Amino acid sequence: MDYLQLAKTYKTPLYVYDLAKITDAFSEMKDAFKARKSLVCYALKANSNLSIIHHLAKLGSGADCVSIGEVKRALKAGIPKYKIIFSGVGKQDIEIEEALQSDILFLNVESEEELFRIESIAKKLDKVARISVRVNPNIDAKTHPYISTGLSENKFGVDIEQAKSMYIFAKNAPNLEPIGIHFHIGSQLTELEPIKQSAQKIAELAHSLLALKIDLKFFDIGGGIGICYTDETLINPYDYAQAILGALYGLDLTIICEPGRFLVGESGVLLTSVLYEKYNGKKRFVIVDAAMNDLIRPALYQATHEVEYILKGNRESHTLTDNLCDVVGPICESSDYLAKNIKLPSLQAGDVLVLKNAGAYGYSMASNYNTRPRPAEVAFMGEDVRVIKHRESLDDMMRDEAELLQNYEDSKCD
Ligand code: LLP
Repeated sequence: MDYLQLAKTYKTPLYVYDLAKITDAFSEMKDAFKARKSLVCYALKANSNLSIIHHLAKLGSGADCVSIGEVKRALKAGIPKYKIIFSGVGKQDIEIEEALQSDILFLNVESEEELFRIESIAKKLDKVARISVRVNPNIDAKTHPYISTGLSENKFGVDIEQAKSMYIFAKNAPNLEPIGIHFHIGSQLTELEPIKQSAQKIAELAHSLLALKIDLKFFDIGGGIGICYTDETLINPYDYAQAILGALYGLDLTIICEPGRFLVGESGVLLTSVLYEKYNGKKRFVIVDAAMNDLIRPALYQATHEVEYILKGNRESHTLTDNLCDVVGPICESSDYLAKNIKLPSLQAGDVLVLKNAGAYGYSMASNYNTRPRPAEVAFMGEDVRVIKHRESLDDMMRDEAELLQNYEDSKCD
């Protein structure tokens, strides 16, 4: 793809997604589990653009959602209700109610109190709520602490004993139907062993539930498979599937997996234009038009996104100097950087940098900090490029506040 041309046509900062890569990643994941009945439920939080979800819906994907907003996005993008699950530690009553009204596949329950709440809402609506309990296996996923979720020190899920008593309660509650069991130990996982151990632990629990005549249908293994940002060794989806399938011996359960990053991460890049170069003493900075509000992963997790450069006007590429630079944005925070200590040739205004593997947790974590409009998004399939989200305008950002201010001022004049 001609990124320089895209930058010219659509301006920067710009997210660009290659839909073919999403198709390939989806097929790879689906094929890995072909020995069993399985459902891939794309984790919308990674990238919740309707066109991206719609692309996955056409491939047969379901959706893993963590807010009623995401449930509505999934439905709008064409994911059938019977392929939608709703997870999250803090579901509000209205969200539970709307999820039950929407008749989605099931809700992943993360605490005993939440289970009681779901029961009473289901009773009020005269519905039977299909549920699955998120079990926290207390296993170290060996990833960045901010995205590790499977230890008891993390807020997610319940321990095995509590899960058991929740299942017994649910079995005896006329408005609850326990149909699944769930775990998710973290994101950007690069080691298989913790997943394997978790699957074994949760499968043991499923066996003991079976002995209590609690016959589940779904084994939801969460998401978390990592992608290559720098030189990580990766989990192969086939080995991943084998590790899970090995744990399920003797259990007739449909596997649900909830990949986010794996499906969309490598499909996306963030294009940004160089504004200036400057030196503070010996320290070299390349200042670009994207910032931490557009891509917060480096600031938040010290994440590395490989950077490629495109020099405008077919300039001869300079050799890389030893003068390492930081690529930084215009935001008033020292943590506003996109890359640190990398080699780049000397750059001019208008040269374009390509931040790679930005398809997951890029746009979906973008904000308006410093009153910066969020970027545009385009997607391409072969040569066919289309805008899937317009760049926000300053008007978009201020309309509501301006109206409220105007109303207030007007009311004072009355
Ligand atoms: N299922 C559950 C219950 C989750 O909490 C998550 C991610 C996923 C599935 C999808 O995980 P994935 O396959 O994408 O690893 N903002 C962070 C990642 C946060 C992940 C939160 N949960 C980042 O930029 O690395």
